[in-house]
Amino acid sequence: MHLRHSDHEHGPKEVPVRFILEDPQDLTGTDKVEWEVMAAKGEHLLEVAVENGINIEHACGAVCACSTCHVYVEQGMDEVSEPTEAEEDRVEEAPGLQMNSRLSCQCEIEGKGPIVVRVPAWNRNAVKEVPH
Ligand code: FES
Repeated sequence: MHLRHSDHEHGPKEVPVRFILEDPQDLTGTDKVEWEVMAAKGEHLLEVAVENGINIEHACGAVCACSTCHVYVEQGMDEVSEPTEAEEDRVEEAPGLQMNSRLSCQCEIEGKGPIVVRVPAWNRNAVKEVPH
């Protein structure tokens, strides 16, 4: 599925984002659990991950029509955009819902960071189990 990138111009990559992967093999093909990357304001977390080789599932192409890009924002919730009503409705369908659950394709970076994002292991598995 094509990934919808955030539309506006991005500034320099000066926002530190740390991704913690519960299943790094599945997402990156490596055993590396923690990834420190730099992102730009205006990017959404999903595109930051994918740009850096962290293949968070995004079944709907980042248009807020699935919940496969579900992540936990462990630090820096104030540094990303507030959830819209559409995101709130959609994220409720994600397994393992927590207070800090967000859809990574809907979280645009607004602040200076740092931001810490945990990617649950079952996101991809849930998708694989859906029959075609
Ligand atoms: S990729 Fe579908 S809601 Fe984020």
